[in-house]
Amino acid sequence: MKKRILTGDRPTGKLHIGHLFGSLQNRVKLQDEYDQFVMIANVQALTDNFDNPEKVKESISELICDYYAVGIDFEKTTIFIQSEVPQIHEIFIYLANFTTIQQVSHNPTIKTEIADKKFESSTPLGFYIYPIHQAGDILVVNADLVPVGRDQAPMIESTRELARKFNETYKSKVFNEPQAIFGTEKNIPGIDGNVKMGKSLGNAIYLSDNSETLKKKIKMIYTDPNRIHATDPGKIEGNIAFFYHDLFNEDLDEIEDLKSRYKIGKVSDVEVKERLFFAMEKVLSPIRERRKIAENQKDKLLEIVLENSKKVRAIGQGVVEKMKDAMKIRF
Ligand code: TRP
Repeated sequence: MKKRILTGDRPTGKLHIGHLFGSLQNRVKLQDEYDQFVMIANVQALTDNFDNPEKVKESISELICDYYAVGIDFEKTTIFIQSEVPQIHEIFIYLANFTTIQQVSHNPTIKTEIADKKFESSTPLGFYIYPIHQAGDILVVNADLVPVGRDQAPMIESTRELARKFNETYKSKVFNEPQAIFGTEKNIPGIDGNVKMGKSLGNAIYLSDNSETLKKKIKMIYTDPNRIHATDPGKIEGNIAFFYHDLFNEDLDEIEDLKSRYKIGKVSDVEVKERLFFAMEKVLSPIRERRKIAENQKDKLLEIVLENSKKVRAIGQGVVEKMKDAMKIRF
């Protein structure tokens, strides 16, 4: 039998090229070999966007279009919506007995997020418990593998621990201990040179951006700030135009030629960026075309996702019943 994968995204906006190299291409690769589930984490998105339900709702169809656009196959991959699977909440409440407030408070990811969001002494409980709730996402299908970014490592670690403690306490074999798979891909910097690309940072190139927008954004890309004339020798390190060349441009000779000419002041930023535009268009224009197809059949795609959610509900119900059996609350 194929091993089961679960992964997820918070619906809080459209996906960008950071996601493409960070997770999306990987999902396209994994979908043939594994039984892959992709969850749209709208309940989790609400934990820090509860006052903006419109955004979360609209982002669901953006995600669906982005998935389709990059080649996630809606037949091979089971895409589902978190709020349609209440078994996740049920699993969460039973698992919550197996951790402590102190343990959650030491979770590095949640610590950083609380600091970033300036929650300080008024952290919403719903947000605070999301790492444990996320264990419910993973265990609702009893996943074997969870491909995630490094920042999610503590969540997977706590999921393993919760699964193990539950099994041990009730001398049962309800859960697998799911394993994280970390991508080898590097973090994609924003067009402004910030190490992270993000919606809130205003430095992202979206999969849905059209040609003109792409061109405009490429013009804004951070290069070598000390280089004023095309005849000045330029730096490659930290130069985002070349970082993107390495990601997108298949013509390795061209990259080498541009880099060596850049270093000695024999090529302009304009030319480097023109070549970059061609290279990026080659990758992004087919994605953009497929995204248009997706937009034209949004309703149908959502219907598939809702049908899938029913399937996951049934799988989750099986898990819940085993848990209840173990806890002697199944009547
Ligand atoms: N917390 C993840 C993120 O912010 C999204 C997510 C929710 C997730 N549930 C998950 C990822 C379960 C992997 C498994 O990116």
